Amino acid sequence: MGKIPEYTIEKIKDANDIVDVVSAYLPLKKKGANYWARCPFHEEKTASFSVSPSKQIYHCFGCGSGGNVLNFVMEYEKLSFGEALKMLAERVNIPLEFEQVSPGEQSDTGKLRDMHLRAIEIYHETLYSPSGKAALDYLHARGISDDTIKAFRLGYAPETWDFLVSRLSGSFPGELIFKSGLAVRSKKDMRLFDRFRERVMFPVFDERGNPVGFGGRLMNADAKDAKYLNSPETPIYNKRRILYGLNVTREMIRREKKALVVEGYMDFLQLYQHGFVNVVAGSGTAFTSEHARLLRRFADEAVLCYDGDEAGQKAALRTAFSVAAYKLECRVLTLPKEEDPDSYLRKEGAEAFFRLEAEAQPLMEFLREYYRPAGMSIREKSEAISHLLEELRSFPDPVYREMFTREIAKLFRVDESTLLRQINRQSARIPAPEKNTFSGEKPKHFKTQGEAAEYFLLNLMINGKLPVRKAGLRYLSPVLFQHPFLKQVLEALLKVLNNNVSIPAGHIPDKVEDAKCKQFIIQLLMEEQNGIDEEKVFIDSLKQLELQGLRQDYDKLTRELNDAPPAEVPLILKKQMENLEARKKLDIRYNKDIFLEVET
Ligand code: UTP
Ligand code: MN
Repeated sequence: MGKIPEYTIEKIKDANDIVDVVSAYLPLKKKGANYWARCPFHEEKTASFSVSPSKQIYHCFGCGSGGNVLNFVMEYEKLSFGEALKMLAERVNIPLEFEQVSPGEQSDTGKLRDMHLRAIEIYHETLYSPSGKAALDYLHARGISDDTIKAFRLGYAPETWDFLVSRLSGSFPGELIFKSGLAVRSKKDMRLFDRFRERVMFPVFDERGNPVGFGGRLMNADAKDAKYLNSPETPIYNKRRILYGLNVTREMIRREKKALVVEGYMDFLQLYQHGFVNVVAGSGTAFTSEHARLLRRFADEAVLCYDGDEAGQKAALRTAFSVAAYKLECRVLTLPKEEDPDSYLRKEGAEAFFRLEAEAQPLMEFLREYYRPAGMSIREKSEAISHLLEELRSFPDPVYREMFTREIAKLFRVDESTLLRQINRQSARIPAPEKNTFSGEKPKHFKTQGEAAEYFLLNLMINGKLPVRKAGLRYLSPVLFQHPFLKQVLEALLKVLNNNVSIPAGHIPDKVEDAKCKQFIIQLLMEEQNGIDEEKVFIDSLKQLELQGLRQDYDKLTRELNDAPPAEVPLILKKQMENLEARKKLDIRYNKDIFLEVET
């Protein structure tokens, strides 16, 4: 199949005014430059969902959702990209034309997928060849049928060091084979050799059925190597958003509105084979908020079926919060200590598993069992509470967050209002970099002047005039920024602007891959800029950051001074003097001329 060319996508987006499209779903009210409504993606009493006609984007200050017109339709109607595009194309009568791509001009993505399809077939054939006999026996011995093997295209990678590489290199350039993650490079002579050797191969697909990578299992699990080896992240494999098996089970999940979530490939296959066909597995990574959002498109409920041991229960607890944050009903199925879904099904059969599934506990009940607060010491309780509140901080919907906070207060028999105060204080801070939401952060919430300055500078790089952006490209660098998340946003922005400094602000989010950064940039886009002196704010903020760096250097020197041998003292004092001089020169270095320099 061809793909829809970029310009058609742009044409469809342009023809669908975001205000018109959103108005069909929500009553929008104009206030200032933007339109406002109560957010459809979380429950709220006041309107924090806004649409910008000039930038053609939407953003909710409450839950942090945001994007362009396509993203809105995808999120509201729970559609895939292609489905949403089709709907918008029909709305404005633009025919969806597919590009005919000849193999020569295919994108890397297309070629990498083709390469994976080839690899899948090669490994699969090998499994059914004489050299795959031991692997096939192994799968049979683990109770995997030929039908299942064929449906999921399981395969075998033999021991030969260039088995796959030699078969691919006639059709694909070495550089691309390396990029695919299917091969690694020898340090000695840079030659390519197979990443997967002597392993049973599990091909991994995205939810639309495009191949993205592999997991490979050693048959002999007490070997020195890791039991499972997975493809690395590649241009076609983003582990944060791939759920194993979803391409096959999505319709069954949609029909039942419920998904069984397991950890392992083997667990997945065994459940599927026993008729539990609404199942998905993580593929060698922890369950992320992006996994939850993906699953939410198909299911209203997730039943976590993790290993019965302590590690499994701990993983279930973490996953449960990721899932609940995105408003999937969550239940946890508990297996006997030594079992995983695969071993349990083989031992006890489908009916026993069915009964366990029916008894799976809602999240709060699971927490009660998991912690058994009655037997906990005060210290243990307080640690558990902090840990749980930390998890709740990543809930995008404040109402949801509050309801769970109340439940946790009840569970540990502590005062609700204390916990509510604590979580509200916590969520007003900038989230830790690995957390996923960044909703409603305003400069007043930043802890330090430096963080506020970083925030202003990012704002100007997005919303500022061209000379200000150009000055930013020249004077800003990630080392100046101290807040890890804001630093990451700056890096992403610099990358986009380096490519095209005059890109319309509303198009920036489309060029940013990281979901958190994108969300934050959309939020900045929605901030109204009423006649601020951009140049002055830029200079003041930049000076603030430089000053902050210099002060920290100075303090470090002071500490060094304390334990320095006498001979080194003069040098340190000299450095401190230079530091003070440099501070004075900041005013001279950064003035409005920096915008002239970059104009030429
Ligand atoms: P398990 O060890 O529970 O795997 O890890 P499993 O599916 O039960 O394996 P079997 O039954 O021994 O074959 C769960 C998942 O974690 C990932 C894999 O995706 C695995 O399916 N994993 C595990 C790795 O990525 N690397 C490892 O070394 C181990
Ligand atoms: Mn297992």
